[in-house]
Amino acid sequence: MEGRMTRRMLIAGNWKMNGLRQSLVFMEEIRDVANSRADLDILVAPPATLIERAARIAGPVKIAGQDCHTEQSGAHTGDISADMLKDAGASHVILGHSERRADHNEHSAMVRAKALSALSAGLIPVICVGESEAERRAGTAELVVGQQLADSLPDRSGYVIAYEPVWAIGTGLTASLDDIAAMHGFIRSKVPGGSDVQLLYGGSVKPENASGILSIGDVDGALVGGASLEAASFAAIIEAAPIRFAS
Ligand code: 13P
Repeated sequence: MEGRMTRRMLIAGNWKMNGLRQSLVFMEEIRDVANSRADLDILVAPPATLIERAARIAGPVKIAGQDCHTEQSGAHTGDISADMLKDAGASHVILGHSERRADHNEHSAMVRAKALSALSAGLIPVICVGESEAERRAGTAELVVGQQLADSLPDRSGYVIAYEPVWAIGTGLTASLDDIAAMHGFIRSKVPGGSDVQLLYGGSVKPENASGILSIGDVDGALVGGASLEAASFAAIIEAAPIRFAS
């Protein structure tokens, strides 16, 4: 059996800094979709203020934080630890998203420290990597992503990787299917135990392009931003995921 057949698909929605209490009706709709697609995992990363409420009504939908601190507690005003996310009901945490790398100067060594903290709290880190437009144009995309992997990944297993080319995030541009396949193959070749690691693509995933992207053998799911804010479009992306094996 090919390695990929042992990896479950994971469709994840990253709400970023969006969502108030009323947005949680979304969870009820997605819970119904999740009940009909037990062959795959569905993950929602609401803002931290909604994690506990979302987790209470999530059913089979898993909940993620969008960041955590490197420490589990202490004098770090405004920060949230992996222990706290776990306590609130999260199972995953997104780390090293390009928006955090840009807005908060997060570098890969910090991402690795956060990933270790997440793993020790019992959370699954979803570690994001991806090149900028200039880096892709210069032909250095693999070099950049390879370095991010080398510096960001913890020396322990149990993480998910999301390849999110920065130029495709929120722009409506997506990498071509060939480029996604090539980069995912490259990432898998660079990661210890790569054939077992869940590897997501992110960057303007929409109902219209989801089926093509999710049919690539090395793509194990999607990390969806804008299209995860509406239940109808997120559900359509989930439905576009191929059934790899019966649950
Ligand atoms: P968009 O789907 O809005 O491009 O965002 C992708 C993303 O950053 C998910 O983490």
